[in-house]
Amino acid sequence: MIRECRGVQDSAIFDFARVRADFPILSSEVRGKPLTYLDNGATSQKPNAVIEAIDRYYRAENSNIHRGVHYLSEQATIAYEGARVQVADFIGAADADEVVFVRGATEGINLVAHGFIETVLSEGDELLITHMEHHANIVPWQIAAEKTGAVLKVVPVLDSGELDLDAYAAMLSERTKLVSMVHVSNALGTINPAQAMIGQAHARGIPVLLDACQSVPHMPVSVAELGCDFLVFSGHKLFGPTGIGVLWGKRSWLEQFPPYQSGGDMIERVDFAGTTYKGIPGRFEAGTPHIEGVIGLAAAIDYLNGLDREAALAHEHALLLDATEKLSGIDGLRIIGTAAQKASILSFVINDMHPHDIGTFLDADGVAIRAGHHCTQPLLRRFGVPATARASFAFYNDFEDVDRLVNAVVKMQRFFG
Ligand code: ALA
Repeated sequence: MIRECRGVQDSAIFDFARVRADFPILSSEVRGKPLTYLDNGATSQKPNAVIEAIDRYYRAENSNIHRGVHYLSEQATIAYEGARVQVADFIGAADADEVVFVRGATEGINLVAHGFIETVLSEGDELLITHMEHHANIVPWQIAAEKTGAVLKVVPVLDSGELDLDAYAAMLSERTKLVSMVHVSNALGTINPAQAMIGQAHARGIPVLLDACQSVPHMPVSVAELGCDFLVFSGHKLFGPTGIGVLWGKRSWLEQFPPYQSGGDMIERVDFAGTTYKGIPGRFEAGTPHIEGVIGLAAAIDYLNGLDREAALAHEHALLLDATEKLSGIDGLRIIGTAAQKASILSFVINDMHPHDIGTFLDADGVAIRAGHHCTQPLLRRFGVPATARASFAFYNDFEDVDRLVNAVVKMQRFFG
């Protein structure tokens, strides 16, 4: 069945019945109700292609990489290194050696912070982040500032959930050594004008790290177009496995960083008198890596490459508009994050009801949302709330999912009078 996206003016047609069938968990029931999975911002579901690739790896290909001369080791190495090329293509990077496999975006940011502590930062330098960062893009920089005497500066967020771009421009200075910012806010859904902001930073010779965790699952992201210096994302939000993620960094930066962790497979030669290290990316991948995770991530990227991503984005946008309109009509409900440019993430509060109670009530109807601070405590404090309820849509959600969400919220309102 092909169903046209409601609310989309152009020719975007998205065969979501087909893609939904690719995700086995979506046809399951929870608490005796059909699952309505709207917690994609926390982690997304996995298509058969990913589950089968991991299954196949363990049944027929399992071996350690870079170490064996036997057939299976060769095959696993080819698959692992092939995935690196695939990731590079996926994010528009010309050089696959600039792709480092890490545990997730958090580890990627920590790796860059370590490099900056060791090779860049000194007292009085400035690091610029924004008020809408995830804790993973705050705490490593706080630690970097503590260790080096650098100062952490924070770009304010407007009531709409957009960045104060005038303040941003004014805060870039000759002391700024790095801008580290989120592409799409996990708590508000705001899509930041990353390309323009990167251009402004570069005009002053300042490098930029982009946290693309919440953008890569929704839209094509190209480091060549954006012009950033570092990009991080996590596999599990991109329909791939947990425990695997990507740090992409410009060669000139990565080559100046010392190893982040040390051990096997990151060395050239070890002697008790001293050790020499591999070049990039091997020097940042100490120990046996998450081979299965890399293979699963490659399968997820293959799967995404087989979709019409523009149509998927249009479909998600139509879901966001539908949900925004319907939820806005509910008495006492306030949407947190009303930026003009938003990904399909919708945070809300209802009167003085605790979002955990909202999440628990909706769960009884099979509707899975996230309730909490979304690892963005400073941002939520900025909006005067300790937590929100958050529905986050993926391309496999449909308008029935929106209706189930809205109906469950209305039912809850009636229940609590
Ligand atoms: N950072 C993830 C979220 O937004 C876990 O839910």
